[in-house]
Amino acid sequence: MLVFVPPHPLIKHWVSVLRNEQTPCAVFKSAMAELGRLLIYEASRDWLPTITGEIETPVAVASVEFIDPREPVLVIPILRAGLALAELASSVLPATKTYHLGLRRDEETLQPSIYLNNLPDKIPEGSRVLVVDPMLATGGTIVAAIDLLIEHGVTSKQIKVVSAVAAPPALQKLNNKFPGLHVYTGIIDPEVNEKGFIVPGLGDAGDRSFA
Ligand code: PRP
Repeated sequence: MLVFVPPHPLIKHWVSVLRNEQTPCAVFKSAMAELGRLLIYEASRDWLPTITGEIETPVAVASVEFIDPREPVLVIPILRAGLALAELASSVLPATKTYHLGLRRDEETLQPSIYLNNLPDKIPEGSRVLVVDPMLATGGTIVAAIDLLIEHGVTSKQIKVVSAVAAPPALQKLNNKFPGLHVYTGIIDPEVNEKGFIVPGLGDAGDRSFA
């Protein structure tokens, strides 16, 4: 499995804004969107299908290359917190389709349950799939989301995961189950506490975005 933390000062900046408990809700949400925009830009490098041709500029004929609109990237935000991280996805990617997945983690058992599945029954073969969830903590949620995508016809090699903060238990679980997966994250934190929070992390990203 490839785990990439893009070494960019803007990414460090937005992660730091998110970490600060003094950051108000509206700023937290826009910082999350901005971080998502940068991570999705990185994740889409060398990944997007293009079409080439020639067009006339006002001066001469030029060879051009566009993103192929016939093969949109499927963006899968994991509700709730993934909505904020995926908010600017369509401003980075010229062709997207968004399908929402709702997963909630039980506060006691930390087991995820699926409460919304908007995926089409059969995801078109060869689709590029971007799963967006700010927190990879115990890893239960992201593994359940990927298992569901696989049930809908995707292979893990077609999937890239974008997250704000990732912790070792989640990365270990993903690596064991999906060795071909690519994960793009703002930062890797050292641990998850007994309540399932990433330490030092940034708290409950869903509550901080929408409470
Ligand atoms: C949080 C977070 C991830 C999940 C990570 O969501 O946004 O989806 O927990 O935890 P895990 O790796 O241990 O499974 P939560 O269930 O709190 O829902 P929310 O986004 O609606 O707040």
